[in-house]
Amino acid sequence: MSDADRNASSLRGYYRWHAKFYDATRWAFLFGRRSLITTVAEQIKSPGRILEIGCGTGKNLIALAEAFPEARITGLDLSSDMLDCARAKVAPYAGRIELLHRAYDGPVTDGEEKFDLIVISYALSMINPGFDDVIRLCRDDLSGGGIVAVVDFHETRWTWFRKWMGVNHVRMEGQVLAHLDAGYEALVRRIGRGYGDLWRYVTFVGR
Ligand SMILES: C[S@@+](CC[C@H](N)C(=O)[O-])C[C@H]1O[C@@H](n2cnc3c(N)ncnc32)[C@H](O)[C@@H]1O
Repeated sequence: MSDADRNASSLRGYYRWHAKFYDATRWAFLFGRRSLITTVAEQIKSPGRILEIGCGTGKNLIALAEAFPEARITGLDLSSDMLDCARAKVAPYAGRIELLHRAYDGPVTDGEEKFDLIVISYALSMINPGFDDVIRLCRDDLSGGGIVAVVDFHETRWTWFRKWMGVNHVRMEGQVLAHLDAGYEALVRRIGRGYGDLWRYVTFVGR
């Protein structure tokens, strides 16, 4: 088994348990998710197809469906437990939102229409190793002029907090922004702070 497969398997196990209370708890620390969608809507008017990589319980899928009423949306996640939560939420949007159960380890589009917008919200910091491959792979799934929109943990100056987040599968060493900067032209690039300055999170929209 490769290190990437081991990480995916470990995340599946983690979310088997955490899916049960994910929505009830994550509002308290996954900051910037709602404002990412608002920010993206200022950059792209009417995307035909949208992909969210690591869509989890589907909160962003609903926000995207509301912000872009004409768009067809795909939510992809490796955790069936998280997707089970998403399924109930997206039911009223049947026909507009589809869910894919798989890891993002290769392009989703295969000769079909590409995505005008790819959203990745608090997933890249958990894909270790392989977050850099995901950032690179998005290019193959994006239409010409397509946009990538990311919100994620960035860094912390507190060693104990970095270690604690590591226990929760999150790597917080500024690595996500460094690779986004290297691969995309930034349209929006913002650093926010969680609980004073316990940690920083990044919002990045680029093409
Ligand atoms: C912290 S949750 C974020 C969920 C959602 N995007 C949100 O903002 O609430 C991270 C999600 O990414 C998924 N994930 C992690 N690595 C993945 C991969 N390589 N391919 C697809 N999904 C992945 C996990 O299963 C989990 O549901």
